Amino acid sequence: MTKDIVNSALSKVLYPGFTKDIVTFGFVNSIEINGADVSFNVEITSSAPEVAQQIIDDATAELKAVGAANVTVNIKAPKMPEAPKPKSKNIAPQIKNFLMVSSGKGGVGKSTTSVNIAIALAQQGKKVGLLDADIYGPNIPRMLGVSDIKPEITGNKVLPIKAYGIEMMSMGSLMEDGQSLIWRGAMIMKAIEQFLRDILWSDLDVLVIDMPPGTGDAQLTLAQSVPVTAGLTVTTPQAVSLDDSRRSLDMFKKLNIPIAGIIENMSGFIAPDTGVEYDIFGKGTSQPMADEFDTKIIAEIPIEPSIRTGGDEGKPITFVNPTSESAKRYMAAAESIWATIEEVNSKGGASNESVQPTTPPGVSACSTK
Ligand SMILES: Nc1ncnc2c1ncn2[C@@H]1O[C@H](COP(=O)(O)OP(=O)(O)OP(=O)(O)O)[C@@H](O)[C@H]1O
Ligand SMILES: [Mg+2]
Repeated sequence: MTKDIVNSALSKVLYPGFTKDIVTFGFVNSIEINGADVSFNVEITSSAPEVAQQIIDDATAELKAVGAANVTVNIKAPKMPEAPKPKSKNIAPQIKNFLMVSSGKGGVGKSTTSVNIAIALAQQGKKVGLLDADIYGPNIPRMLGVSDIKPEITGNKVLPIKAYGIEMMSMGSLMEDGQSLIWRGAMIMKAIEQFLRDILWSDLDVLVIDMPPGTGDAQLTLAQSVPVTAGLTVTTPQAVSLDDSRRSLDMFKKLNIPIAGIIENMSGFIAPDTGVEYDIFGKGTSQPMADEFDTKIIAEIPIEPSIRTGGDEGKPITFVNPTSESAKRYMAAAESIWATIEEVNSKGGASNESVQPTTPPGVSACSTK
């Protein structure tokens, strides 16, 4: 047996479906001859198993006809193309990333954190929106000093309000002052969807979403409506708050939301007169929880009177006092969050495909109300 004999035998093997043979196509290589035994590779472009099988059968028959004993055909086929990823749902496709700010417990500083992180991201050059998804207790308009401003309507859409370099929308800007709200699950879901669909957000790099406390309809609806790129948990250092924050982190896991980290708020107190730091609620106590969820504390924000007055007066500390210790920590946290967002995207981005509702439209999967 010689290479010439092998080549001329294989020249009779047509590539299935074509009039050209596999040698002419240049698919045959690495021919090895050992006495009457022949082995070679055939590199084909089709991943269909029937194409490979026909080449093996035809080549073996042709070589045996010219005296080969054992014939080994190694087919090198391209891998089957992977099934296309099931579609992730995004009802606000002009927004590139979504950051969900959550806590298990109320009053730990979610809104304060959302405002300052949003402003920090904007100061780092990102195009940022801030959605106040706390339908019951919207505080963002006050914290941004725009509680008297009513949004402009164009057609059946609403323009976001602009403040401190970010775009913002809140139920507080859409309703009359002090109007109290009693919402049921289905209405909350509708409101969250409208906030995403019917507000004319620009092509944002990131929409920061200040959630109501807890893990309920609003969180689930948001996760089902847009692929949330990262989740941020805000906690205070006391054990009772940590217990609740654990639920918030667990919710991110269940909703398949990548965790950007934990902000430990009201972590120590910096006396404005002396600059001395006191431990009030404890400090660094969230570390074991961070370890448990394989994440990190991305900032310890002290109790600073100017954070509270900044919120009440609509003058966010990150904007009005960027050299303060807290502002610096918010800036560092924003950088860390952005790094997580980039990492998530480099791995193919977030997907909410696994949390799509199995219940009929309008019926919440996490509440019977
Ligand atoms: N680090 C801080 N130092 C001083 N005051 C703070 C700090 N963080 C938050 N606050 C104040 O604590 C109060 C509660 O904060 P915030 O409204 O942000 O909490 P929240 O978690 O959004 O509350 P809710 O659950 O009611 O939405 C506000 O008055 C705010 O200004
Ligand atoms: Mg709040």
